[in-house]
Amino acid sequence: MTARMARNGPRNKFGVIAGEGCMKPIRTIVVLTGAGVSAESGLQTFRAADGLWEDHRVEDVATPEAFARDPALVQRFYDMRRAAIMAARPNPAHAALARLDAAWPGELLIVTQNIDDLHERAGARRVLHMHGEGLSAWCTACDARLRWTGTLLDDPPCPSCGARALRPDIVWFGEMPYRMDEIFVALREADLFVSIGTSGAVYPAAGFVRQARECGTRTLELNLERSQGSTWFHESRLGPASTVVPEWVEEVLA
Ligand code: OAD
Repeated sequence: MTARMARNGPRNKFGVIAGEGCMKPIRTIVVLTGAGVSAESGLQTFRAADGLWEDHRVEDVATPEAFARDPALVQRFYDMRRAAIMAARPNPAHAALARLDAAWPGELLIVTQNIDDLHERAGARRVLHMHGEGLSAWCTACDARLRWTGTLLDDPPCPSCGARALRPDIVWFGEMPYRMDEIFVALREADLFVSIGTSGAVYPAAGFVRQARECGTRTLELNLERSQGSTWFHESRLGPASTVVPEWVEEVLA
């Protein structure tokens, strides 16, 4: 079946394409987002030619070992990320997903690998940050998690316990992403899995499409170019997130 045929294919009672020979009504949607959804808000992606990992080695700034070795380098890197997040604004892709969140009558979970808060600032509520949050600090002494908009390079005391033990509340390579149990339950129950603006290079998120397929879930990729796991998706729609995401959301809510 061609993409055009798929778009004209059978629709369920929520106006969603059931797809190739599959008439199962779509009630539960899991959306996975990556850096591509925030690219048009001016936030750098990781693996583009001008991406964050071009100028910084993962091993130097995004592992617990790097933090133990050179905390100032790591804190400076995330202080810059925090400042960039504060300066960014949601784009039409975030706005469209917020519209979907507000209007979708069934279950919805937006799982993001992004540490920015642009989904929330656009108005989305059903958001889960599996790689942590740039505007959150974690006290490794008292385990408090605190909204943080300033710097950490100056080693400020924890407002809860006073210890100078704050680190970015970010999941580094070698650490366990947050709330994986919830994500796997949602994937198991999903009728539709949609991946937006992610290269499919980093597990476990890169494996979500296969898990969804094993459960018989319909899968759709919205990305600027084909991701590494592109062949696992039933359908790929290529283009900038600010265009393809609003188009898809309009289709779903029609
Ligand atoms: P990547 O930088 O690996 O991939 C970004 C994807 O977005 C690529 O496939 C681009 O083609 C696509 N893209 C770029 N601009 C776009 C646009 N305007 N519209 C739509 N798509 C666009 O970023 P992620 O896949 O999010 O983890 O990276 C996953 C994880 O790797 C990150 O969360 C981070 C990183 O290392 C940690 O730091 C733990």
